[in-house]
Amino acid sequence: MNDPNGLFYYKGKYHLFFQHNPRAIDWGNMSWGHAVSTDLYNWQELPIAINCTETTGIFSGSAVVDHNNTSGFGTKENPPIVAIYTEHHNDESNQSQCLAYSVDEGLTFTKYAGNPVLNINEKNFRDPKVQWIEGQWLMTVALASDFKISFYSSPNLIEWTHLSDFGPAAEIGGVWECPDLIQFGEKWVLLVSLNPGGYQIGSGTQYFIGQWTGTEFIADDTTTRWLDYGRDNYAGVTFSNAPDDKKIFLGWMSNWHYASKVPTNPWRSAMTLPRELSLRGDRLIQTPINCPDGFPEVSFTTQEGSIKISENENRYVEIGVHNKTLFVDTSNAWNELEAPTRQEIAVGDRTLDIRVIIDRGSIELFADGGAISVTNLVFVDTHLSAIEVGEGISALAYSGLSLHA
Ligand code: FRU
Repeated sequence: MNDPNGLFYYKGKYHLFFQHNPRAIDWGNMSWGHAVSTDLYNWQELPIAINCTETTGIFSGSAVVDHNNTSGFGTKENPPIVAIYTEHHNDESNQSQCLAYSVDEGLTFTKYAGNPVLNINEKNFRDPKVQWIEGQWLMTVALASDFKISFYSSPNLIEWTHLSDFGPAAEIGGVWECPDLIQFGEKWVLLVSLNPGGYQIGSGTQYFIGQWTGTEFIADDTTTRWLDYGRDNYAGVTFSNAPDDKKIFLGWMSNWHYASKVPTNPWRSAMTLPRELSLRGDRLIQTPINCPDGFPEVSFTTQEGSIKISENENRYVEIGVHNKTLFVDTSNAWNELEAPTRQEIAVGDRTLDIRVIIDRGSIELFADGGAISVTNLVFVDTHLSAIEVGEGISALAYSGLSLHA
């Protein structure tokens, strides 16, 4: 699998769709796989929700609960769930936006007979993220090779009117993909994934902070802000209709630079931890949500010092602060795949809080109250790990791991 798609919450269930090849572990036959969860940790996989055809793939997109039945696909009593996805022509001649709807709470989907609903005869026009704002639907969608995010509005999800474009700005990269426009009170954050051109290599996600005027996004500035300084957090978006209007984010935990070579079988790829997003000044804050008790993790504070999460003396991840720089070093926890194995982030002269959540094959770091995130796949048996603590570490707490003598 790759990108998370169509994230929505309805009647006690989180639905996760995902870019999926039902026939192999390589990219292809793009269809929407489907899984549901009540806690965002235990997922039940369901049958394919939207299938590719011989000539087209079902690329990334979003899903909404159409509470007012604006589309007419359901009733007000039983609102339709509407998926808005990109139909990609395998001959690469066109990408357009299409609908599929469900009247059984998101279990099965029917492709809309009037597809596509938005076709501007573009080859690189994809990844629609739709939300309900001020009495109408707003679509945020990428003009990938122009490094632009386009905004469209609709009363019914079927007829779309172009409002404005944003970009190019800050990091350009190879293509812009998978946008999401998220409201935090008066401020709005625009997520833009780009590939290649990430923080160090391959895929990465940047964000802009600004205003949504009702017709256009105006960024406060065009400074580069990375959502994640690791290699493995791409194409992430937020759930729609989440409880208490929480902004819950999931990313794809891999990188196009090596995704097709990661040696796992019979599956390939996972999502990041679910993270609640909030805004603190000009920084997006990521906080893991619902993390089960006893899940392997370690937290500490330091101004100069490091810890190791180690399977044995040769296989470990080292994390700490050195010379006012936060670092995550996976050079002894990686294989032959080409990828940078040390991330460094300038943090200045202060004591930093660091929390690391460890799963089999991945580590997700949150520092400075969640303003810094570093997500990496690792090839070390992290679930068998012990922590080794160096000088300069305080407030150490851990669970699900042992402490090295
Ligand atoms: C991002 C992406 C999307 C596209 C999908 C295809 O990873 O390239 O832009 O819709 O993957 O699988």
